[in-house]
Amino acid sequence: MKNRIVLITGGASGIGKAMVRMFADRGCQVIIFDVQDDKGEVLAKELCDQRKKVVYKHVNLFDIDEIKSAYIWIKEQFGKLDYAMNNAGFGIPAKPLDECTSEEVNKVIGICLIAVTNCMIEEIKIMKENGFGRIVNTASGAGLLGVKGNSIYCAAKHGVVGITKAAALDYATSNITINAIAPGTIETELVNSLKEIAPEAYKQAEESNPAGHLGKPEDIANAALFLCEDTSSFINGVILPVDSGCVAGK
Ligand SMILES: NC(=O)c1ccc[n+]([C@@H]2O[C@H](COP(=O)([O-])OP(=O)(O)OC[C@H]3O[C@@H](n4cnc5c(N)ncnc54)[C@H](O)[C@@H]3O)[C@@H](O)[C@H]2O)c1
Repeated sequence: MKNRIVLITGGASGIGKAMVRMFADRGCQVIIFDVQDDKGEVLAKELCDQRKKVVYKHVNLFDIDEIKSAYIWIKEQFGKLDYAMNNAGFGIPAKPLDECTSEEVNKVIGICLIAVTNCMIEEIKIMKENGFGRIVNTASGAGLLGVKGNSIYCAAKHGVVGITKAAALDYATSNITINAIAPGTIETELVNSLKEIAPEAYKQAEESNPAGHLGKPEDIANAALFLCEDTSSFINGVILPVDSGCVAGK
């Protein structure tokens, strides 16, 4: 993987941050797109100080013009894009669908599905020129199952699953693979903060994984690395649950 160019959206925090560290450890040139500038810049500096190659770029993925110019920048700076992890995303607190606002609909579908789609379009254009590419989308168990109180998030993540499978077919003869990971409940900053403020919810989060504990961001990052390996070239259109068996048991 040395010198491969890898983009990680949402790389300033949580799962994306673990991906940044792992791909940088493998000698890749890592590009982070995020809006948390302080976190992104601190992470990039920390890794560059260790002689790793990481660059942070502020890109608001709700803005199509920012997305388009960010990929032009990648092309100008690096000439190609080998791997793309479309990972940025968030949900909203659980509630029944009729209590959700149109603003929440636009935000969750905007980041989890529309931004992923717009990024994939730009990524594929660059990858086709280079005749190689690996795209890994971060879906969710909520992209494979219905989750009570999470209709909008489920809709967006089911959409990620759909676009992953269909687009995988479009480029199967172009040396570009497109897969997704469906994480179980992972110990990121957000989930961790529940420990103090909502211990019951934290306990539920732990118990939602059959292993009885939260997954680590590195569990997801490892799966992303695997899907990008040269030896994974025949794995395409797959939605890989990394959830200690949660989806398997439903
Ligand atoms: N943590 C879990 O338990 C879990 C489970 C299943 C799926 N996921 C998915 O994993 C992905 C990563 O989640 P996480 O838990 O690491 O969350 P996180 O909040 O730690 O990281 C998400 C990152 O996305 C960035 N982001 C948000 N809006 C953005 C925008 N408009 N433009 C650019 N960047 C933006 C955030 O700044 C943040 O750095 C998400 O797609 C999430 O839906 C997480």
